[in-house]
Order: sequence, then C-alpha cells, then structure tokens
Amino acid sequence: MQGKRVLLIVSGGIAAIKIPEVIRSIRKLGGSVRCVLTKGGEQFVTPLSLAALSEDKVYTDLFSLTDESEMGHIKLSRDADVLMVAPASADILAKLAAGLANDLASTVLLATDKPVICVPSMNVRMWEHMATQANVQTLEARGVTFIGPVEGDMACGEYGMGRMVEPAEIIQGLKAFFYDTPRPLCGRHAIVTSGPTFEPIDPVRYIANRSSGKQGHAIAAALSDLGCRTTLITGPTNLADPVGCDVIQIETAHEMLAATEAALPADIAVFAAAVADWRTSGEAQEKIKKQPGATPPSLNMVENPDILKTVSASGNSRPTLIVGFAAETNDVLTNASEKRARKECDWIVANDVSPETGTFSGDNNTVHLITDGAVEDWPRMTKTDVAKQLAGRIAHYFEAAE
Ligand SMILES: Cc1cc2nc3c(=O)[nH]c(=O)nc-3n(C[C@H](O)[C@H](O)[C@H](O)COP(=O)(O)O)c2cc1C
Repeated sequence: MQGKRVLLIVSGGIAAIKIPEVIRSIRKLGGSVRCVLTKGGEQFVTPLSLAALSEDKVYTDLFSLTDESEMGHIKLSRDADVLMVAPASADILAKLAAGLANDLASTVLLATDKPVICVPSMNVRMWEHMATQANVQTLEARGVTFIGPVEGDMACGEYGMGRMVEPAEIIQGLKAFFYDTPRPLCGRHAIVTSGPTFEPIDPVRYIANRSSGKQGHAIAAALSDLGCRTTLITGPTNLADPVGCDVIQIETAHEMLAATEAALPADIAVFAAAVADWRTSGEAQEKIKKQPGATPPSLNMVENPDILKTVSASGNSRPTLIVGFAAETNDVLTNASEKRARKECDWIVANDVSPETGTFSGDNNTVHLITDGAVEDWPRMTKTDVAKQLAGRIAHYFEAAE
C-alpha cells in the first residue's frame, strides 16, 4: 500500500474502537491515512487518538472556517486515492444512498470523485431491515465496494449478520482493492504457529530454544497475502506482527495448544513453532535460591502436549490440510517421514537445523516438502520465498480439490 492515501471516515458504531488498529496497519504498509470523524464516531473514539495514530489532523466539522480555507470539504474528498467508511453505520449508509450532505462525512462522500469502500457494522436487525438492505443495493449498484459485514456475536449481546469484519480483513480488502491481486485463499481460515515456547522453571527462569519465528511469521504473511484469514499463534520473538494477521501471543506449549484449539475451525493449519517437548514438573512459585555448599537443584521434566498430533486427531474440527514442520539435525528425510506418519498430518516441511546450516536464526532455509508419497527437495532460498512457495502450494491444493 506504499504511497496510497486513504480518507477514513469513522462513523458512530461500537466497532470504531477497532479503527486504531486499521490505521496502524495501513501506515505500516506504507500508506497514509487522514480521518474524518462523525459526531456519532466521536462518542466511541477520540479525535486525539486518531490524530496521534494517523499523524495528521482529524476533521470533524463541516463549518470550521479554518478548515474550509485551508482544507475545504472538496479538497478533502479529492486528496485521497480511496474513501473508506469504517465502521459504516446504518445512518451513514442511509445518508449516502439518499444523497444527503448535512455533515462533513456525508458532504465529503457526496463531493468525491474517488472510489468509496464501506465496512458496515450494526445490530443484526438494523442490518436486515429492508431500509438498510435497499440502501446497500443502491450503493452497490452505484459502484460502492462493501467489505463485510459478517455473522457473529454483537456488542449488544445478540448474534447474527452485521458484525464488522476484523481489522486484518479490512486490510486484506484494501490490498485487493488497490492491487486486484489474486486471492485464491479468500474465504479460508489458516492457523499458523511460530517461534519458540518458554517453559517456566521458576518466576524468573525458563527453558527455551533457538527458534527465531522468522519462518512461521513469513508463512502467516504469505497466506494472508493470498487472501486467507490468518491467525498467527506465536511464542516470544523479536519480530513485528505480520500485517493483516490476527496475532495471539503465548509463552508455553500448553498456552499454544489452548490458543490453537480456540482458533478452530480452520481450513489450514501450519505448525511451524518449535514447541518444547518437555517442561518442568511443577513450576516453583518462588525463585529457586542458590544455597552455599548445596548440590545444584535437578529439574524433573514431563512431556508437553503434542499440538500437531492433537489437532490431527481432532475429528470433526480437524483442519482440511495440516502441515507439520520437522526440524532435524540428522537423517532429516527419514525422521521427517516417520514424523508425518506418527503425527497423522498431511504434509511435513523438513529442514536441517544443525548449527552449521544457520537455519534457526538465519534468513535462509533449505527444506524438503513431504506430501502423500512424494518428497520434493526445494533449493536453498530465503524464508520469505519458502513461505511464498508453501502458500502457493496450499492454494493449489484447495483449487485442485474444488
Ligand atoms: C452504544 C451505542 C452503540 C451503537 N452502535 C451502532 C452500530 O454498531 N452501528 C450503527 O449503525 N449504529 C450504532 N449506534 C447508533 C448510531 O450511533 C447512531 O445511529 C448515530 O446517529 C450514527 O451517526 P453517524 O452515522 O453520523 O456516526 C449505536 C449507538 C449507541 C448509543
């Protein structure tokens, strides 16, 4: 979204509280955001917070003389590549459909010569009302693009259609709007695990491993780029959250399993995290003290849950395609093939993580993709390219199955 300018009109719905995340993501991707806030919108999010995040003035008032001389409503509507109304209330959809121009947001929308995207958010009855449905039809017929809404729990306690899509999906929609990129995984959901787990010994010490999370994070980003709603469940890393993904931070293997099960159902699961096989039995509640002359404490280890195997055997909620990772230091292909059979996953990505390969912390990876009866040796490439190639293979798998 490098260089793209979004005029973001925030109207009065509870989902306005998610808009700071959208602004952050657009800016991370190189775009700029200028906000117009309705009177309703101001009840849910402050101009100051939107101004701080967009690093620009927030416009609220049609009749502000200084704004009219410096930045009139016409210029505001022309200075953008796209106008996006998010959340779009029932009220602003009605105004736009009727051609009303009685506040800054509706006037800007009427005065624009730029494309308009609406991201509706409202109670199920408001969405299903014949008036709203007629307004949506009118706007679609005039070329307005809609992102969502979706079905789900509502802030008012009801359930149904009308919930705003998550910020990650708004970003997906914007990307598709700007670049008309192929989105073969649109409508699918992927869970990706990444990074190490930290298994506590006492409140200050833990057992970890050398996983950087680079490969898992790159896979999440690549799936998201193909239009897939992607939930990234990650252990502690130094990496930025990939834009467009829902990111859940965990520390232990138990937390990773719980987050994975909570994120189901999914079409795709890629388990790239380096989950600790063992944890200490019974984390000490206080820091274990060094005692002069005493023998060092010994750690009693117990097995951690096997996330790959548990999800592979999860019956009705099993994702259609499960991809495991096998990080090996010897007999890579034999060990990985055995792991695929033992864990009952569909594919295994096997890689050699011996220290001399530099795989764990480096930017490159040499992998083998083991599928049903076939082994592909991929050349050494960046982790980003491994991720893109794997995401492409996953997309192809679903296209072929249709
Ligand atoms: C707590 C609360 C939550 C609301 N949430 C929504 C909502 O999600 N969607 C919607 O269309 N209207 C919602 N409304 C009603 C709008 O805020 C109201 O129609 C307002 O006039 C919209 O003005 P605007 O479109 O100019 O921002 C809500 C009102 C309240 C008091």
